[in-house]
Amino acid sequence: MRLAERRDESTVRTAGSRGPALMVMLAIGFGACSLLGCSRSEPGPAPRGESADVATPPAEAPAKDSGARSIEFRVESKPVKSLTAEALKKKVKPLRIEVFEPYEHANVVFTALPLEQVLDEAYGPSWRTHEAILFSCRDGYEPTIPVRRILDHRAFLAIDRLGDVGFTILKDEEGQKRRIELSPVYVIWENLDNARVRTEGDYGWPYQVVRIDLVSFRSRFQEMAPPAKSSATVLAGFDAFIAHCSKCHAINGHGGAIGPELNYPANPTEYLKEAWLRKWIDQPTLMRIAPRMPPLNPDLPDRARIIDEIVAYLGAMASHKVEPGTP
Ligand code: HEC
Repeated sequence: MRLAERRDESTVRTAGSRGPALMVMLAIGFGACSLLGCSRSEPGPAPRGESADVATPPAEAPAKDSGARSIEFRVESKPVKSLTAEALKKKVKPLRIEVFEPYEHANVVFTALPLEQVLDEAYGPSWRTHEAILFSCRDGYEPTIPVRRILDHRAFLAIDRLGDVGFTILKDEEGQKRRIELSPVYVIWENLDNARVRTEGDYGWPYQVVRIDLVSFRSRFQEMAPPAKSSATVLAGFDAFIAHCSKCHAINGHGGAIGPELNYPANPTEYLKEAWLRKWIDQPTLMRIAPRMPPLNPDLPDRARIIDEIVAYLGAMASHKVEPGTP
């Protein structure tokens, strides 16, 4: 059944996943920002007034879309279907969606397909019973978003942008503005009328998404999980790590590939003083000039506690190493 083009605005969109949820080990951190997207870049504390000038000719001309815009759909790592953005567009009605775009810090209008309808097209209705969706981006970025989040809020796969800059955004990378091609698809969230989605979710969204995989936390994050008897702080830190860090960093060989592996063979709690580890998370610019790593979302509520928890989790993993590649 197709969803109505505009869902009733009274639809509950506030995150339901905060607080004690089904999977004690995994639920808590997911209420937080990055589940709505990811923070491959640092939209961070950018100069608010100076929104990216979309009219400026791009330093690198946006590559004209080649037509090869295939997205692979998987279930628990097994490929089930491959669809191009063009094929999806024929099956799911594209809408014009205006959002507050977190990289440009400005309102941008995209042509976009409701994510729920795309998932129905790819998987049938059964995707709703899965725990999470892992998005894989061309550059090794791997954010995970709980299915709950997608049901509670309005997410879209953007396939084009209105205006004359092509399907691109202007993004701050290591202190320089670069124009980034978003194709095949860019995951965006309706956030103009939802303050909570704004503060929690406006922190990097996955673009150049080439793969969508339905996963369960247990199977996907097995090697990253701390021992079951770990303290509540460590378990909460695991949630937070998956929400905020695993999209770029691997633990025991599992996770994103934008930043370095953080457990095997050496864990940062073994070679960094705790104060320096905290700086990496809190404000990487205190560690490196123009770091590629963004700070933990500055708008997160309970940010200090989340940092404590992540540090506790990393500490626990130091004595829980699994050589990557070993089953
Ligand atoms: C957008 C991708 C990204 C995210 C998200 C991210 N990091 Fe990083 N991280 C990097 C990159 C890239 C580096 C390598 C240094 C650099 O270029 O900034 C790095 C470096 C580090 C380092 C230093 C490691 C070393 O040996 O030098 C630590 C520690 C670290 N990250 C921890 C974290 C934690 C904890 C989180 C979650 C709160 C996190 N990172 C989130 C990309 C990311």
